[in-house]
Amino acid sequence: MFGHPINHSKSPVIHRQFAAQLSEQLQYDAILAPLDGFADSWQQFVAAGGKGGNVTVPFKQQAYQLAEQLSERAKQAGAVNTLYFNSAGQLCGDNTDGIGLVADLQRLGVNLQGATVLLLGAGGACRGAIGPLLDAGVATLVLANRTVSKAEAIAINFDHRVSACGYGDIPSQPYPLVINATSSGLSGERPDISAGHLQHCQLAYDMLYGAKPTPFLHWAQQQGVAQQADGLGMLVAQAAEAFYLWRGKRPDVTPVLALLQQQLQAV
Ligand code: ATR
Repeated sequence: MFGHPINHSKSPVIHRQFAAQLSEQLQYDAILAPLDGFADSWQQFVAAGGKGGNVTVPFKQQAYQLAEQLSERAKQAGAVNTLYFNSAGQLCGDNTDGIGLVADLQRLGVNLQGATVLLLGAGGACRGAIGPLLDAGVATLVLANRTVSKAEAIAINFDHRVSACGYGDIPSQPYPLVINATSSGLSGERPDISAGHLQHCQLAYDMLYGAKPTPFLHWAQQQGVAQQADGLGMLVAQAAEAFYLWRGKRPDVTPVLALLQQQLQAV
């Protein structure tokens, strides 16, 4: 896993757990690449025998540039989080973040077929999620962002199912699922939307996670939303998809998620 910073990365623990579960031999470490030197770090890793890896903030765009073959979902996201070599030796870039979100929503019992979703945010986290949500059957996706132009610039890449708006003009309709893909929680804030949009919400989901509920999830609970979930499940699920790309085997996310939840609470 390549990142900067890497000290809080949970990916090594996750992948070592997956490998143990499936009796696979795997060495997985976090590598601190210089901010302007991802490509060099990757080449060194490959020269030393590296076969594949994950890429996290802030290198997902640099990995996108480096890959010789891009999956459809990487193209849609404009970012790569998983690298591997195909049988012809070409470097392939994929993005498992969005499918990880979908898998986590399904784990939580959400039926996405025909669903109406309110997605908050228009940064990297949101871009990768839209294609997989639509592929999973979402019929209407309202993309709302504080800066409306950024939401519009993303929505234009999709069909009529996706519309863009600002927080003040979110269409009034029932949203059983509201997803926070903003980074507002990092600064102790939540997207400033009207509480009315949560009236029919059954699950509030925040892509961030932490030892305590994020401000958005805390607020959703106060508004009476039945179920809240943070992004830890998405983190484990995107890792499971990456593991599958490398090894062709699907790990069970449940025990690994339970372990990480336990570790977070112990901090
Ligand atoms: P990245 O691409 O790395 O995810 P980004 O482009 O800075 O990061 O996107 C962060 C997202 O969180 C944006 O949607 C941002 O809203 P703006 O586009 O209006 O800046 C959103 N965001 C960050 N802090 C926020 C806050 N306090 N309230 C609402 N939205 C916030």
